[in-house]
Amino acid sequence: MAWPSLTYTELILYIPCLLLFFYYLYNIYLVFRLSPNWPLVGMLPSLLANSDRVHDWLAEILQLENGNFYLRGPWFPGMKLFVTADPADVHHILTQNFQNYPKGDEFVEIFEALGHGVFNSDGQLWRFQREKLQLTTSQKCFCTFIGKTTQEKIENSLLPFLSETVERSLVIDLQDMFSRLSFDMTCILAFGTDLGSLSTDFPAVPFAQAVDDATATIFFRISRPSAWWKLLKFLQFGQEKRTAKSRVVGERFIAEVIEKRKREMIEGRHACPDLLGSYLCDENIPNSNKFLRDSVVNFLVAGRDTNSSGLSWFFWALSQNQKTEEKILHELSSVHHSTTLEGMAIFDQEELENLVYFKAALLETLRLFPPVPFNFKSVLKPDILPSGSGVTPDMKIIPSAYAMGRMETIWGKDCMEFKPERWISESGTLRHVPSHKFLAFNAGPRTCLGKSMALTQMKMVAAAMVYNFCFQVVEGQVVAPALSIVLHMKNGLMVRVRRRTSI
Ligand code: HEM
Repeated sequence: MAWPSLTYTELILYIPCLLLFFYYLYNIYLVFRLSPNWPLVGMLPSLLANSDRVHDWLAEILQLENGNFYLRGPWFPGMKLFVTADPADVHHILTQNFQNYPKGDEFVEIFEALGHGVFNSDGQLWRFQREKLQLTTSQKCFCTFIGKTTQEKIENSLLPFLSETVERSLVIDLQDMFSRLSFDMTCILAFGTDLGSLSTDFPAVPFAQAVDDATATIFFRISRPSAWWKLLKFLQFGQEKRTAKSRVVGERFIAEVIEKRKREMIEGRHACPDLLGSYLCDENIPNSNKFLRDSVVNFLVAGRDTNSSGLSWFFWALSQNQKTEEKILHELSSVHHSTTLEGMAIFDQEELENLVYFKAALLETLRLFPPVPFNFKSVLKPDILPSGSGVTPDMKIIPSAYAMGRMETIWGKDCMEFKPERWISESGTLRHVPSHKFLAFNAGPRTCLGKSMALTQMKMVAAAMVYNFCFQVVEGQVVAPALSIVLHMKNGLMVRVRRRTSI
């Protein structure tokens, strides 16, 4: 059969109709992909369509909805969520009306692995732990301990690890390397022992695995109806069974550490200013093993994955922005460094303190890739937020740090670009951005207690790495956020390493 031939007039009419039809289809697709709430099924279709990119999906909706929206659906029967990236609402929830927005009992159940530590408590218990932790970590001897042990770890583990990688021409996963490094560094600060997980043998450390399982379970519980994970827990099945097993491993390990340190104290052999050591010396801190265990576990979970996530994304950002790396190298070459026996440069914390561009690049990384991408809050009494949105006690509130870092209304039209310059004022100093706009370290009374510790460690590690080595990201890999409570990379970050020959 021959195709009917079209006249010019028909063609002129036909093409716009076709374009209109495709435009219409595309809009239906966008609505389907972005709209959170459908009749009867609520968020389910959109969530399924975006299950591999939940953080970006929430950010796109928040952009379209001017900063906040209600998320409902059968997915969480009877559960309503209010998601926000609106600075005024966030300021109200996290600071101005803080008392009305506790973490709540459901949070405590989901984060069961953290016991009743500082992350997982409200009211008096939280306040007591926060004050003690704040006092301990701000003491001069603890700050010196951070600088000294980080420098030793860089010199004795990190640089030798990278040198061996170069010698053996290995392709390594930087994310895994940072996870091992942060784990070792946080264990040293928490209880004075280096567990030596950073090595080119890539040793399996059962305690590290137990901590991984605990965080995986937290995400598993968040993303399922509570009745479902509670049933699995009761039946001891799947992820819940793994959790129970690794919990035994973790608790046994910590109990041994605590007993060992208590014995050392009695024998007068204790001189280490780590967290556990300081707590054991403090008469006002409960000496019960449970309190000490919860304190150590919370400190580990707080410090380990956050630092390693931040560093992984920082090196990813550098690999995409050659100019930024050059500017950081230029800044580093202007300050004094010491040299290891193998001829490698190491920087101490004071030397890095005043490097404005370097810090701006780190903050810019944490803006676009906040290691804690979202938070959970409960509502005690009904309230009206500054945006005019009403919230009630049957809702949970999710302030999204990931979305806030990508809001045009906060950062301008170039919000998706990596631009450390946005953090630098005209006079060349670092620009202050209030925490309810830059939410990476949370805001209000529950602001991260490890912010300066984290920035110190990240700067020392990144400076030694960038100055001594070049990292080439293996082509063809997809670098994207994983589904987790921490912003890990789905497939890691595979790199080849070379010694840097010139600055
Ligand atoms: C880049 C690194 C880090 C980032 C982005 C970060 C971010 C955060 C965020 C968003 C919170 C609030 C979490 C919540 O309320 O659920 C938080 C809380 C906390 N962070 Fe960090 N953190 C980092 C590193 C650290 C380190 C190294 C430590 C110390 C070991 C630490 C200690 C804490 C503690 C103790 C809290 C609980 C505060 C409270 O609830 O009162 N953080 N952090």
